[in-house]
Amino acid sequence: MNIHGIPTRCIRPVPGAMAVDIIDQTELPQRYRERRLVTLEEVARAIRTMQVRGAPLIGATAAYGVALAMVRDNGDPALDAALATLAATRPTAVNLHWALARMERCLRPLAPERRIESAWQEAGAIAEEDVAQNRALGQHGLALLRNLRPADRPLEIMTHCNAGWLATVDQGTALAPVYAAFDAGWPIHVWVSETRPRNQGLLTAWELAQHGVPHTVIADNAAGLLLAQGRVDGAIVGADRIAANGDVANKVGTYLKALAAREAGVPFYVAAPRSTVDFACPSGAHIPIEERHGDELRLVTGLDNQGHRQRLRQLDNDCQVANPAFDVTPHGLVQALITERGSCPASREGLLALYPEENHEPF
Ligand code: MRU
Repeated sequence: MNIHGIPTRCIRPVPGAMAVDIIDQTELPQRYRERRLVTLEEVARAIRTMQVRGAPLIGATAAYGVALAMVRDNGDPALDAALATLAATRPTAVNLHWALARMERCLRPLAPERRIESAWQEAGAIAEEDVAQNRALGQHGLALLRNLRPADRPLEIMTHCNAGWLATVDQGTALAPVYAAFDAGWPIHVWVSETRPRNQGLLTAWELAQHGVPHTVIADNAAGLLLAQGRVDGAIVGADRIAANGDVANKVGTYLKALAAREAGVPFYVAAPRSTVDFACPSGAHIPIEERHGDELRLVTGLDNQGHRQRLRQLDNDCQVANPAFDVTPHGLVQALITERGSCPASREGLLALYPEENHEPF
């Protein structure tokens, strides 16, 4: 995707150096800033503090984190420590654990001196696959959107949080079909929900603006009204973990949108690659839900009149807050899952039809 007209990925190995460059998403949308990560600790911190965020991007970043750890020490204890450190950064997005398991499968059998080069190659492969899968997913999503396309006005899509290219290495998940439609010349408009408390919707608005896609930001609580008024043709969100039965964990607030969409008769789609599906997790009830710091609700961030970033307190420290970062949408509210292999019903059967190699039950 283009930033100020320049094709840019959200994570990039630095040519000729053992380092990766990321976009610091805690600074967006007020300020565009890249950061260079050189150590395992820097990578773990970037994930924990959400300088990088979004399930697929977390996975790819963690893979590079293992590679950076191998540069410093390629022995077994260092590998174990790197995997454990990164696994503890965030609990809900399963792409993190998927990527770490893949790195371990690649590196564990190798002699230590061969691990550095292999780790960089494997991390690079994970990143490249993410881009290719999201591109394919976008085309499959486009086929579904074709059925929703009105003859006489722009297609109206609602999304939640940020499942665009900022949440991935490139292309995005939920927004990949939107970009595909826009690039194909369709008139399209996106309703972007703010996504309190961390406001990832503002990241969505920022990246849609970079690509020129018409959009409107709404308060999270406005979504039900718009759906009920018939101002939305379809909703597409991403996912942080899809259980084997098709239940979907995604940014908190997703469930309410799915309920409102069902009530309004608006199709509700979930777009995610294979790395987001947890076949070992039987249902949404088993998905760990991240509880984040209460200051995300107590403080708000923005620019003052001089253009300086400021944090303002809206709640006292002693005000008790709850901050679950994700919720679970039951599979029955999901019209279809959109993956790199095509779309399917949000069910065990639907997922296994797309990924038959994951069916480990005896025949
Ligand atoms: O807490 P975040 O910002 O890392 O949350 C992840 C997300 O961006 C969303 O839940 C998204 O819809 C799924 S990731 C493509």
